[in-house]
Amino acid sequence: MAELKELIQKYLPQVLEHRRHIHAHPELTGQEKETAAYIAQVLRDMGLKPVENVGGYGVVALIEGKNPGKVVGLRADIDALPLTECTGLPYASQNPGVAHSCGHDTHAAMLLGAAYVLNELRDQFDGTVKLIFQPAEEDPMASGAKKMIEAGVLENPHVDGVFGQHVWPQYEVGKVAVRNGAMMASSDRFFITVKGKSSHGSAPENGIDAIAISAQVISALQNIVSRNVSPLDSAVVTIGKITGGNRYNVIADTVKMEGTCRNLNPAVRKQMPARIENIVKGVSEGMGGSYEFQYFMGYSPTVNDPKQFELVCEAIKETQGEDALVIPASSALGGEDFSFYCEKVPSAFIWLGCRDPKMPLDKLVPIHNGGFAPMEEALPIGMEVMVTSALKFLAQ
Ligand code: NI
Repeated sequence: MAELKELIQKYLPQVLEHRRHIHAHPELTGQEKETAAYIAQVLRDMGLKPVENVGGYGVVALIEGKNPGKVVGLRADIDALPLTECTGLPYASQNPGVAHSCGHDTHAAMLLGAAYVLNELRDQFDGTVKLIFQPAEEDPMASGAKKMIEAGVLENPHVDGVFGQHVWPQYEVGKVAVRNGAMMASSDRFFITVKGKSSHGSAPENGIDAIAISAQVISALQNIVSRNVSPLDSAVVTIGKITGGNRYNVIADTVKMEGTCRNLNPAVRKQMPARIENIVKGVSEGMGGSYEFQYFMGYSPTVNDPKQFELVCEAIKETQGEDALVIPASSALGGEDFSFYCEKVPSAFIWLGCRDPKMPLDKLVPIHNGGFAPMEEALPIGMEVMVTSALKFLAQ
């Protein structure tokens, strides 16, 4: 579609301006007030009527086509991370300690770009596009997707399917990746407190050493992945934080740990809380201590619908060429709250290549790193795939 490429080029300067503005003014999960206000203003400037404060700082707007028909949702997340940016870009973060190091600034800008284009094409399609600018993706305990769905984002009008994307530095600019089925893992969080009894460091027999117990707990937890989960399934159990003890010569009475579990198979995921607790209980009590344990179910696995997967593959091949399409052999074990849309309606999530082709894969700067800097050449590609997927969906 030559017209589509022209339209994208026409709006690209504005899209890049929006991207750089949002990038320079990052806001943390749950605090996306100015970002949402900026997005809403851009939508109003297009002549759209955005609804603000949907499930937090969510912004929703409709683009209605020529005749009533299906409703397709296009979703972008908009929050940033508590990191210090070190990209050296001229439009780097002006908010110290906060940075768009997961590329959600590019997601928001690409969705604004798709909005410009679809708004101009509205006489050429039937049905409705629902633009979903979603806050709070980065914290599974806050999940903006969950809150927007609870606030009714998939109703009035009812949404028949949703498309979303994430910039992905594992792939170079020009490549777009999508899988049939699991794309991203579940992301759960747990808290462990091991309790012992303090005593003089020279007389451990008078105390119960919470640090020694914790060391055994951590070792034993590794057995869940190696011995309880089938080698054909994927799982991760990570302890990411540990604090405990008071002084070099005092037996520690308390150690606190926090960790995360990732799974692709819901059945395996369901077993995790009990497996972990049994180990914590057995080791702690076996060594004379006690424990507290809390497990929070965060994001579900993000699972693409087979039909939407086919549709997105066609959109990628048609607009970017056969070679652009990548079907990854495995899913990522990162979490993503796009999963909640997938659970409700047939949806698809794609990874948009954004690495400089000159940069070797082993030198890539990953997401969630203060140096992450996706190439802006990826943005028109992401816009084109999004718009084409939406039009194909509405034309079905
Ligand atoms: Ni992200």
